[in-house]
Amino acid sequence: MATLVTGLGYIGSALVQRLLSMGQTVIAVENFFSTPRTVVETLGSVGDLRLIEGSIDDVKTLERAFGAATIDAVYHLAAQASTSPCRTRPTRSMLRASQVIEPIVPGMNRNR
Ligand SMILES: NC(=O)c1ccc[n+]([C@@H]2O[C@H](COP(=O)([O-])OP(=O)(O)OC[C@H]3O[C@@H](n4cnc5c(N)ncnc54)[C@H](O)[C@@H]3O)[C@@H](O)[C@H]2O)c1
Repeated sequence: MATLVTGLGYIGSALVQRLLSMGQTVIAVENFFSTPRTVVETLGSVGDLRLIEGSIDDVKTLERAFGAATIDAVYHLAAQASTSPCRTRPTRSMLRASQVIEPIVPGMNRNR
């Protein structure tokens, strides 16, 4: 039983730290777009963190994530949220954020 978290950024890393300190297994999908890799080492020292490196818009990455454990809950926090692509191309960032929900949903349904 595990929780899937996409994005180990500002919110994701704080959430994952809390989940790990509660003894939960966390499967994290992160492509290190705006977060340094050191976050994995830091959070990995707290508990059972399993990194699936890749992008949330890559179906194979999501399949690996949903296959890594029995997923009880999903927190979708990966985004181009606080970086320049969002400011310079807001429509593209918004569309990208909403489109990636689509491939996540089948994985959630499989784990119901
Ligand atoms: N920070 C806030 O105050 C706040 C407030 C309201 C809503 N939100 C929303 O919460 C979400 C997370 O915000 P945040 O502040 O943690 O953002 P953040 O930029 O700190 O973290 C986003 C993480 O997603 C990763 N990422 C980006 N594209 C990815 C991809 N294609 N595949 C995998 N990982 C990818 C980045 O590397 C980063 O680690 C966003 O949707 C944001 O709009 C944030």
